[in-house]
Amino acid sequence: MGETAKLIIDGKSYELPIVTGSEGEKAIDITKLRQATGMVTMDPGFANTASCKSQITFVDGEKGILQYRGIQIEQLAEQSTFVETAYLLINGELPNQTELNRFSVLLNDHSLVHEDMRAFFEKFPRSAHPMGILSSMVNALRAFYPEIPERTEEEEVNITVTRLLSKVRTMAAISYKISRGHKLVYPRHDLSYPANFLNMMFDTPVRPYLIDEDLVSALNKFWIMHADHEQNCSTAALRLVGSAKANLYAAISAGICALWGPLHGGANQAVLEMLNQIYESGRGIAPFIARAKDRNDSFRLMGFGHRVYKTYDPRAKIMKEMCDRILNKMSINDPLLDIALNLEEAALKDQYFIDHNLYPNLDFYSGIFLRSLGIPTNMFTVMFAIGRLPGWISHWQESIEDPDWKIHRPRQIYNGLTKRDYIPLDKRRESN
Ligand code: ACO
Repeated sequence: MGETAKLIIDGKSYELPIVTGSEGEKAIDITKLRQATGMVTMDPGFANTASCKSQITFVDGEKGILQYRGIQIEQLAEQSTFVETAYLLINGELPNQTELNRFSVLLNDHSLVHEDMRAFFEKFPRSAHPMGILSSMVNALRAFYPEIPERTEEEEVNITVTRLLSKVRTMAAISYKISRGHKLVYPRHDLSYPANFLNMMFDTPVRPYLIDEDLVSALNKFWIMHADHEQNCSTAALRLVGSAKANLYAAISAGICALWGPLHGGANQAVLEMLNQIYESGRGIAPFIARAKDRNDSFRLMGFGHRVYKTYDPRAKIMKEMCDRILNKMSINDPLLDIALNLEEAALKDQYFIDHNLYPNLDFYSGIFLRSLGIPTNMFTVMFAIGRLPGWISHWQESIEDPDWKIHRPRQIYNGLTKRDYIPLDKRRESN
């Protein structure tokens, strides 16, 4: 037996194996704990629990390191494209030219959405949140694209993966166009993945959309930075749903629902709303910082803090630089960017934020970037979801191929009422 940890309960000693990851991270393996001791572990929020072994993404929250399949996020954001990064995450290696071409052609071939699905999009109330629409429509894809028995399981997975990557982008643009009452714009085979998206969103019969390669490159970076982040809330939700052998559409739909929450992907929308609130209050940032520090106030500085990063999120650095560059290029003077910069400067000097290790996260500057592209605030989290698809897909694939695969079923410590008798209705006391 390799390295072990010793656990002593009531004077009895138990040896527990220690698992070491390829970057030196260690975990105590408690798989046999209940069998040996009759006890379980308690870890609300799973802050100390590794739910699986994974070869996809490495995060060092203390040092601010993020790597996809061993490659640093800074290098990918600078040199890769979203489609290439998606291939890397899903297949484990960067594609060669032929593989990349084949993958891009496949994404183009699957970019159309079944025409009958339009009726669904059109019947959602105009006020429906795009994340609710997206999660429902991704689930509905299963009905429109059922399994074909003649295909092998591998063929079925490959086609589902391609469909999701390609169609979710089209579906996001459709829901935007319908919400504006505009004519739909179909995907084009001659445009790159991000250029196609921008064109489907913003091209109109009266004003053709002019593709700007700097914006395309910035959108590539944006999606690369969102492409995976190991066992975050939405990926954990997707793995949990997938562990019951639910199909990939259902698992992704669950991931989208989890991402919607303001403490997770919904934070990008919440940050912008907060910055707007500060702007409209005309009172500056001080009262908001004071509220964030007040234990009796539930207000939090959105876009600050992270379960894993206890230093500056490496993605937030890239996003901040990108915001600066794009706003300059487009000659946009956004007062919300100034508020964000002031907020960051003040918080990083404030003892409360220093003591709690609270730094800007990915979402802090991403809303300002999306706004500069013309993306409406309620679609910010949809933009995150498109970016996160390769990560979700690779985690789903990894989990179904995992030899240690088990349905996810945590334990609990019951602390409710102990055993008692049922009281017939006519014998129960009225409370008043
Ligand atoms: N503003 C003020 N105080 C905060 C903040 C914040 N943004 N975040 C955490 N804290 C404080 C908490 O009040 C708590 O203080 P206490 O120990 O004195 O009681 C302490 O820091 C630890 O907070 P937890 O909620 O226990 O930390 P956890 O790891 O569970 O939560 C989370 C992480 C959800 C991201 C949290 O920092 C937060 O709510 N941030 C704002 C929302 C946000 O930006 N979410 C996006 C995350 S990144 C992503 O999903 C892509």
